[in-house]
Amino acid sequence: MYLDVVILAAGMGTRMKSEVPKVLHPVGGEPMLVHVLKQVSALKPSKVWIVIGHENEQVQQCINQSLKDQALDNQVSLNWVQQSKQLGTGDAVKACLPVLNSKGTTLILYADTPLIQSTTLKKLLSSDSHQQLSLITNDVENPTGLGRILRNTEKHIVGIVEEKDASIEQKQLTEINTGVYACPTQWLLDWLPKLKNDNAQQEYYLTDIVNFAVDEKKTIHAIKLIKSCETLGVNDRIQLAMVEKHYQRQRVNALMSQGVSFADPERVTIRGDIQVKQDVFVEANVLLEGPLSIGAGVYIGSNSCMRNSKIDNNVVINHHCVIDGAHFGENSQIGPFARVRPNTELGAEVKVGNFVEIKSSKLGNGTKVNHLSYLGDSVLGKSVNVGAGTITCNYDGVNKYQTIIDDKVFIGSNSALVAPVHLQQGATIAAGSTITQEVPENHLAVARSRQVNKSNWQKTKKK
Ligand code: UD1
Ligand code: CA
Repeated sequence: MYLDVVILAAGMGTRMKSEVPKVLHPVGGEPMLVHVLKQVSALKPSKVWIVIGHENEQVQQCINQSLKDQALDNQVSLNWVQQSKQLGTGDAVKACLPVLNSKGTTLILYADTPLIQSTTLKKLLSSDSHQQLSLITNDVENPTGLGRILRNTEKHIVGIVEEKDASIEQKQLTEINTGVYACPTQWLLDWLPKLKNDNAQQEYYLTDIVNFAVDEKKTIHAIKLIKSCETLGVNDRIQLAMVEKHYQRQRVNALMSQGVSFADPERVTIRGDIQVKQDVFVEANVLLEGPLSIGAGVYIGSNSCMRNSKIDNNVVINHHCVIDGAHFGENSQIGPFARVRPNTELGAEVKVGNFVEIKSSKLGNGTKVNHLSYLGDSVLGKSVNVGAGTITCNYDGVNKYQTIIDDKVFIGSNSALVAPVHLQQGATIAAGSTITQEVPENHLAVARSRQVNKSNWQKTKKK
């Protein structure tokens, strides 16, 4: 079966009150349109057409980038169709007619319905979609604002009426149009040029194709969902928040089924690809942003944000840590209040304590940086002890330089290591030193002025 997929994404999204085109608003950190594309790609369609209009370049750029970032760009071959004026959903599909394969089937979706699942779409297509008009409906508690499905006494679908065109009785109906349809492409070629805009919104409604199908006595097949959140549409920010909530619950449930426990599944935010092993524990108010790989037995303290990192087994991340672009070795302990920036690699059993910032640095097994330090562009060996308040002075205002600290070096508190500098194995740095030169193996470096004690010191008196 030749399958064209048409995704409508040209609407202005006026109700969002935003400079950002509606379909780029994120759910789980990703544009709504990307969610729809991911589900569609599972159908292996012959071609995917996205109808755009409003801010079209911004939409194209953002979507192409998003797919590239996730290496999905080879999986879905996108084609863009311009709808010059947003005259309604029917007009949007009409803009695609010249490019669709008249011998195939067309599946139509709206880009503002990001929770739709490929399994549901497959069901819609498996029923004889090449000889009937198939659509998905949903029986919902609050149908306000949505198109209502009209059925006759035999329960056959006879039309769809938009809220703005509905009578008081029709507004009582709770079965709604979800905006997903499939039918032979030839039928769209016949019907769409005949659409009229004589309705409350003066738009060309795609939903009117149901009337043509009824007139021509075509089979109309509906998959009726009951109170499903899958077809929730986003027209405003309240609906966006609702969709986000459902999406988050799905993500949390999926992680729990893989062996992750959450102190409060309602108070966690998950975005992107998260790989987990068993017995991970996540405290409340945590933000996990993929790509993220979390090993077995890892503990993540409350108010921590983690992204783009690999955490090995049994690592403890205490409360209030911000972690980006890091790899933590087994049994390491981080925080509370640690900030780990990109290109940081910790070996096994490393300890990074409170108010420590690390970037572009490698720390060997068993090394400790327990309090109030900054390590930038540095390479630390094994079992190094970095005292409280130690700073690598890696930047001279123009260039960055490296600090190399070999195994078993002991650095006293409040030391400034002026890079480039090399502290050789077993060296000891006296507290308060400003180190500007290489320290040889096992030497003690003292780089501070000597203490002077003055006897018979007279305290200044108040005049
Ligand atoms: C539409 C349906 C309604 C259904 C609801 C489900 C119609 C007439 N109404 O209403 O029956 O219950 O979706 O969520 O189809 N778009 C374009 N070009 C346009 C207009 C819209 O590409 O000229 C796109 C929008 O970007 C959006 C989608 O089509 O992704 C739906 O448009 P929207 O205005 O949100 O329709 P609803 O009022 O939600
Ligand atoms: Ca909508």
